[in-house]
Parts: sequence; structure tokens; C-alpha cells
Amino acid sequence: MDVTWREIEQRAKEWIIQAGEQIKDAVNGSFAIETKSNPDDLVTDIDKSTESFLYKKISLTYPEHRFLGEEGISEAIDHLDGIVWIVDPIDGTMNFVHQRQNFAISIGIYENGTGKIGLVYDVMKGELFHANDQDGLFINEEKVDKQTERPLHEAIIGLNSNWLLEERQYQKALVEVAKSCRGTRSYGSAALEMAYVAVDRIDAYISLNLSPWDYAGGAILLREAGCVSTRLDNQELSFLKKGTVLAAKKELHPTIIEHLQEG
Ligand code: IPD
Ligand code: CA
Ligand code: CA
Repeated sequence: MDVTWREIEQRAKEWIIQAGEQIKDAVNGSFAIETKSNPDDLVTDIDKSTESFLYKKISLTYPEHRFLGEEGISEAIDHLDGIVWIVDPIDGTMNFVHQRQNFAISIGIYENGTGKIGLVYDVMKGELFHANDQDGLFINEEKVDKQTERPLHEAIIGLNSNWLLEERQYQKALVEVAKSCRGTRSYGSAALEMAYVAVDRIDAYISLNLSPWDYAGGAILLREAGCVSTRLDNQELSFLKKGTVLAAKKELHPTIIEHLQEG
């Protein structure tokens, strides 16, 4: 990586850790909770203040970079030209509110649509999953370079049971995938679940409805781990609009796609 990208990565790490410190100071206090699209879609003032903290750092240091964040602190973007930071200030807000743990800050930094640096920070555990296109994937400062491919019947898949119960596209096929694998898990943070695939804690992660900020950081971790992330129809992920997501080990990915196509 050239000097400029090294500096961007260094700053991104510092800022995500600082943002995490602020969240830790707030997590056991009282914070305002509001609902968004439905009564289970939560947002707190900590989500907003974290996004605002990161946006200020980025825009003051790199005024030419652009920003796409869940809480809409900056204007919506309609193209990925130049350098774009895609940020979810708290991924797993329901866990943040109910459990006060098991949430992450997620940042993906893209240049002309290509992932350069991905960071997913499990604030309460102090685990920073990060990757860049030159050095690969790390947990904190430890390099991760082991991936174990497992067949579907030995695989653990991150999957929210709602997708199995709702009558919609892929429901039947997903029930079959859930029956065929060794077990399912639902951690409640897409960014963490994608990071877990990348570092070999689970073998795949499936969601039917995510936004770019949910997966922008995780997709870079996965690529650097040699894993694959696409939509459920095997098309490329979009970093401008919502969609389905299948993140999986390289050899497991086509097996799951096959099930989804048959279903
Ligand atoms: C949510 C989490 C959750 C996923 C939802 C996302 P948020 O993000 O990633 O695991 O199932 O679809 O919206 O709202 O906590 O940032
Ligand atoms: Ca999210
Ligand atoms: Ca969020």
C-alpha cells in the first residue's frame, strides 16, 4: 500500500477505536431510543453521535472523500466515484439496546467501487477485524490466514430464523439449507457475522435484506480471506442499494447457490 493509503488505514483504525471508547462510556448509561421503519427497527442517540463523530473526522481530514452512513448525516450518494467511506455506526442496535454487547462499528473504504480497507470493530470484546487489499486480514494485530472448507453437512451457517418462517422467495430453499447444514446461528449483527465467516468461526452467512453499510466492511474482510460474497441470485453486491446477501467460504458458496436455484 502506498503512503497515502497507509495513512488512511491508520487514521481509520484510530477513529474506530475512539468511537468505540465513546460507545463504551455510554453503553451503561441512559440513551434515547427511537423506532424507524417498524417498532423493531431501533435507533439511539448513540448511533447518531457515533456516525457524526466519524463523519467529522473523515470530512475534516479528507474533504475530497465522500461518506455514506446509515443515519444520514451526509447527503445520499448515487455513484461510487472517488473514495467513499461506507459506515454503519452501530450494527446490531437491537443487541446494543437489549444486551449492551454483541454489536459492531463497520467501515468499508472504497475507491471507484473497489474495496480497499474494511474494519469491523466488536466494541465490547475489543476485537478489531480489519483487512486491506495488500496485507490481507487481521484480528487486532494478528494475521488470519487459515480457512477450513467444510461440506454443507458440517457447516455452521449464520441465519436469522425469520427468513425461514416468512413466505417469500427462497423460503423453501433456505429451509432445506438449514436442514442440511450442521447448525445455524443468529448473532444479530450482519457485520460481525460476515467477519466470523472471514475468520472461520462460521462457514456462511445469509440475509434477505441488508443495506450497503451492513456489508461494506465485511465484504472486504471476506474477499481478503478468500471467501465469496454475492446476492442470493449470485449477482455482485451493490454498494448503493439494498439486497440479499450470501457470504460463504469459497467452495461452500456454489453449493448454497445451487440449493437456492433449485428451490
Ligand atoms: C441490522 C443487523 C441485523 C440484520 C438487520 C440489520 P442495524 O443492522 O445487522 O443483524 O439482520 O437486517 O438491519 O439496524 O442494527 O444497524
Ligand atoms: Ca446495520
Ligand atoms: Ca446501524
